[in-house]
Amino acid sequence: MKAPESGDFKIVDVPEPFKELIQRRGVEGSYVGDNDVESPWVPFGENAAIRYLAFDVRNNWVGNVLWVKSPGVVSTHKHRGQVLMLCLEGSFRYLEYDWVAYPGAFIHEMPGEAHTLVTDDPNGVKLFGWMQGANEFYDEEGNLIDTVDVWWFLDHYESYCEEQGIPVNKQLYI
Ligand SMILES: [Fe+2]
Repeated sequence: MKAPESGDFKIVDVPEPFKELIQRRGVEGSYVGDNDVESPWVPFGENAAIRYLAFDVRNNWVGNVLWVKSPGVVSTHKHRGQVLMLCLEGSFRYLEYDWVAYPGAFIHEMPGEAHTLVTDDPNGVKLFGWMQGANEFYDEEGNLIDTVDVWWFLDHYESYCEEQGIPVNKQLYI
């Protein structure tokens, strides 16, 4: 197979029997560029930040990147929905499990799982996450501190934008 030169690429006109219907009733996909204007790092506690990628209020889905900046912990939380995660940089583990995730590791979390995220890496960890439903955060005595769902994350993002004078990015609302 020969490597194509850029001039070899062209847009293919794909047959679509429902083209008009899709234009009228379909929903457009989104694009969020890799800069602070399109989606800023919103502080999450003292040692972490979240960069939001998508909010789906119909399905209670949130797409984001969690960045724990240095060795630290994200307190014990229980999931009420599924979470798909990919480790992008650094490493992390859960106190409750026997593995350590490095870049490229895929983690699939299920409703009912409760765990405590720890990173021992000097540079912390960056994790892409696509999460559904609520996350319940608990203190060290097992008392519920907060319930975090799409509305909590949306408020987190929009409050920060307002405070910083950053326009809300409509591309994040899928
Ligand atoms: Fe989790």
